[in-house]
Amino acid sequence: MTEMGKIVEAAEDLVEPVTIGPEAYVSADYARAEQDRLWRKVWLQAGRVEDIPNPGDYVTYDILTDSVIIMRGDAGEIRAFHNVCPHRGRRLIDTPKGRRNARGNKTNIVCGFHGWTFNREGTCTYVEHREDWQGKLTEERTGLGKVQVDSWGGWLWINLDPEAGPLDEYLRPAAQMLDPFELQNMRPRWRKWVVFDCNWKVAMEAFCETYHVAGTHPEFMEFGQFRGWGRNQGLHSNIGYDAPKGQEEDQAKLRLGAGEDPRLSTAEMQVFTWENANTNTTRTLVDAALRLKDELPEGTPAAEVSKHWLSSARAFDERRGVFWPVVDPQHTAASGTSWQIFPNTQIGHAVNNMLVYHYRPYGCDPDKCIFEAAVYELYPEGEAPETEWEYTEPDDWPPVLQQDFNNMAAVQQGMKNVGFRGTLPNPYMERTVPSLHYNLSRFMGAGAPRKV
Ligand code: FES
Ligand SMILES: [Fe+2]
Repeated sequence: MTEMGKIVEAAEDLVEPVTIGPEAYVSADYARAEQDRLWRKVWLQAGRVEDIPNPGDYVTYDILTDSVIIMRGDAGEIRAFHNVCPHRGRRLIDTPKGRRNARGNKTNIVCGFHGWTFNREGTCTYVEHREDWQGKLTEERTGLGKVQVDSWGGWLWINLDPEAGPLDEYLRPAAQMLDPFELQNMRPRWRKWVVFDCNWKVAMEAFCETYHVAGTHPEFMEFGQFRGWGRNQGLHSNIGYDAPKGQEEDQAKLRLGAGEDPRLSTAEMQVFTWENANTNTTRTLVDAALRLKDELPEGTPAAEVSKHWLSSARAFDERRGVFWPVVDPQHTAASGTSWQIFPNTQIGHAVNNMLVYHYRPYGCDPDKCIFEAAVYELYPEGEAPETEWEYTEPDDWPPVLQQDFNNMAAVQQGMKNVGFRGTLPNPYMERTVPSLHYNLSRFMGAGAPRKV
């Protein structure tokens, strides 16, 4: 019998050591209950605004059995509709085989079954033999069901709950903390997705803390210490690195290499990161790091190396028409390196790039999820590459991510072991884990962390 302890009843209690039972990760009943209690109640990151620039452009977003069409109207307004025909329930827009979602442009949405037709406002404009319904086909009965939609950070967000409060309120304080980074100006460099063998929470928690860096990514330890914090932020949470001495101002947002000569170790770390993760940096930053040994004398103190690296990369980008926002160092420090947006999105932000993860259940199978990652950066006006979501088998992801994948499937297996007593997350470095479960328990009515 495990000692259960006292249930965590207030977010402030999350600073104490807690334990979380495996139910939320492995139970089929819990996974089924998530649909009504969670997925149909929360704001979900459903697409990118730049993917629907023109009237009639649309993307779809699926969450379990629900599907939503997000479409731009004639005056540029954004609407969202339930992706189902009011006639006999055919899904209106199919997802092409093997694709993550549908994307395209339509003047009208025509149902493939009997041809009912809907305009960009969701109004039904054509029903074959309409008179057979004897005048009962009102606009209300035939129009597409509306879904709440809004945008922030350059993303489209939807909420299936017609009673849900505004997105702006929901995202607090994450959106306010991230606004200075102007994420809406970034465009994807790549976006990949895969159906993976673990619960969506197991996947999410593989990326929401820095505690695993030493054990999972030992190569990075050559470049310095990776101790970092995690904080609960209302419904959301964030993480960041503890700053090395003398670099508190930068709060390690863009990490310098450690060791004798930070000029060389920074360049090595940047090249390693570019080649093995292809996240959290840009070609500009890598090249500026490679120039450090020529531009600075041996023995330059770390803080100065850091300053020079960033200003040289910033200046290089400005010459090619890429302008990083200027963010107050204290704000940068408080914002950390990454935000968990409840329940299933992570935004690893910076002034010139970001790494965004998104996790969804795959059917009601607690052992599977849809895992996605997208890397964004700033491009000169009109030069962003055209990207689409690419289905990518686990072995074809960047090597650093494969190291994380190795843990994810194994954690899912371990959680089901009769001998597993519940997790023991690090109260300082992994506080984002109890934060997620504390907030989940508010929606699910079960599964709150317990004090140990
Ligand atoms: S189900 Fe759509 S027109 Fe019949
Ligand atoms: Fe990792």
